[in-house]
Amino acid sequence: MTYIVTEPCIDCKYTDCAAVCPVEAFHETPDRLLINPDVCIDCDACLPECPVEAIYSDMSYPEKYADWMEKNAEAENYPIISTKQPALYGPNCSGDPE
Ligand code: SF4
Ligand code: F3S
Repeated sequence: MTYIVTEPCIDCKYTDCAAVCPVEAFHETPDRLLINPDVCIDCDACLPECPVEAIYSDMSYPEKYADWMEKNAEAENYPIISTKQPALYGPNCSGDPE
């Protein structure tokens, strides 16, 4: 089991999730975060932290995000992120946390 980051994260990157992960499972790409499935311990700490509900358990995620399992499996190709950074607020960030 693992948790996955999905579509709503793109261009938002609020990074609240990475700050609470106890095992540094999050990795950072230029426009999104990904979770390394080999590191995630399914603790559930990150899920409620995401303002745009981009995080799901791999046991329960919307069918439309099915290809995100594969995307997250590539996480270790990117640098680890374990602290909160300024959000990206890019043009494709559709989620509004307020
Ligand atoms: Fe990290 Fe826990 Fe989220 Fe897995 S479920 S990515 S271990 S905070
Ligand atoms: Fe992305 Fe949500 Fe984390 S927008 S960076 S999954 S807090």
